[in-house]
Amino acid sequence: MTDAHTTGPFIAAIDQGTTSSRCIVFDKDGRIVSVDQKEHEQIFPKPGWVEHDAAEIWTNVQEVVAGAISKAGITPADVKAIGITNQRETTLLWDKNTGEPVHNAIVWQDTRTDALCKELGRNVGQDRFRRETGLPLASYFAGPKVRWLLDNVEGLRERAEAGDILFGTMDSWVIWNLTGGTEGGVHVTDVTNASRTLLMNLHEMRWDEKILQSMDIPAAVLPEIRSSAEVYGVAKAGPLKGVPVASALGDQQAALFGQTCFSQGEAKSTYGTGTFMLMNTGHTPVNSYNGLLTTVGYRIGDQKAVYALEGSIAVTGSLVQWMRDQMGLIKSAAEIETLASSVEDNGGAYFVPAFSGLFAPYWRPDARGVIAGLTRYVTKAHIARAVLEATAWQTREISDAMTKDSGVELTALKVDGGMTSNNLLMQTLSDFLDAPVVRPMVAETTCLGAAYAAGLAVGFWSSTDELRANWRRAAEWTPRMDAATRDREYKSWLKAVERSMGWLEDES
Ligand SMILES: Nc1ncnc2c1ncn2[C@@H]1O[C@H](COP(=O)(O)OP(=O)(O)OP(=O)(O)O)[C@@H](O)[C@H]1O
Ligand SMILES: [Mg+2]
Repeated sequence: MTDAHTTGPFIAAIDQGTTSSRCIVFDKDGRIVSVDQKEHEQIFPKPGWVEHDAAEIWTNVQEVVAGAISKAGITPADVKAIGITNQRETTLLWDKNTGEPVHNAIVWQDTRTDALCKELGRNVGQDRFRRETGLPLASYFAGPKVRWLLDNVEGLRERAEAGDILFGTMDSWVIWNLTGGTEGGVHVTDVTNASRTLLMNLHEMRWDEKILQSMDIPAAVLPEIRSSAEVYGVAKAGPLKGVPVASALGDQQAALFGQTCFSQGEAKSTYGTGTFMLMNTGHTPVNSYNGLLTTVGYRIGDQKAVYALEGSIAVTGSLVQWMRDQMGLIKSAAEIETLASSVEDNGGAYFVPAFSGLFAPYWRPDARGVIAGLTRYVTKAHIARAVLEATAWQTREISDAMTKDSGVELTALKVDGGMTSNNLLMQTLSDFLDAPVVRPMVAETTCLGAAYAAGLAVGFWSSTDELRANWRRAAEWTPRMDAATRDREYKSWLKAVERSMGWLEDES
């Protein structure tokens, strides 16, 4: 089975993420053959604003595809399909005649549309579009970002109404460019990405005309909504010329797919820039009464869509990056574990990283980061520990909400993503959840999920059962903390969360 030398055919997956773009080549057993990755610039024009240069991103995507193909030493004929996965909600408008972005992409973490969202809520508030979209009105989602661009880039609304402007999340941008760009590129998105715009009707899987009207967004800019696994077109240039582009899923949905959570009640949590727990709820969208999102999990070809409940945490890995880049307390992300391990506990300190407000389960744009419980005793090692605990407590809050909404008790949590290489964090997570935490062999589940979906679309894999057989456990952590300590600490955490709220006043 495990030959040192891997032979084709293969599937290539492109992951256009928040911090970097990646291309991974997979073989039939779902094993990684080659990887190439490149970071792009994070642009912070003002407090709370986050942008990406979409042209830079497209250049990087082309480079990593070439890099991965060349490292694998294969030819396009060996690659049966290309799968796409992407940072979700990050919003771009571009000119379809020139292929040029009209503005930097507005990243999902960006809070510039807070006031606009409040205004759009009218007298109803955050839940004005929840019944149709499954989402609260929050700056996180794409729709209000589109509106902001139309209102703030000079002359853009006229060009959009004339049909010269295309909107897309990064899936649409990558697919349009891959399939020819100005020379006949296809303008599509998939149901999972569309479900993050606040513009799609979750039950009918189409753009909601009433919401478009309320948000004042012309339908002419919108991509066509397609399945997550189907052939959209073929690559027109580059090292994969002629290969079908056969899947698109938002990164978190791709990870759900890559973790093979194909049955109702199965859940995963992905630890990257932010953290996102998704639970498969089958063919029914489950309403949340506990601050979670209702979203599309995936749709394979013309099969019925599968829905998910989601708990979104904006800041987890990015807090570690912030400790490294802005505070200079560590030199590498991995060093946070060494530093945190040099002390027994948090020394009484709690770090609530509400940098973009609080996402699930609170949805409080007025919150900002706090470190609570400081005394002279606290060292940078205690803070490092509080940084890791913040990720684990936030997961616990989401997991509690998920149990309430779904009625499914968490028996074990499947995890993946860059932060899962941190053993202390994984142990803490298991302690705080009071449940086992398991990590699969391939922790790159985002790319894997996109590859799986593309492979299913072209018949490279025959069924989801075949994919399930590829899932292998690599590591497991089990709870070691006593209940009294856990409960006491949780209480302190919740007190700290309360202290982060109400920081921004209405008029700011
Ligand atoms: N050993 C570690 N301990 C804690 N955090 C870590 C560790 N290694 C990496 N990270 C954090 O994990 C994140 C990277 O994870 P990952 O590679 O899964 O993210 P990503 O997929 O690139 O993110 P995105 O898709 O959002 O661009 C970074 O924010 C980094 O700070
Ligand atoms: Mg990622």
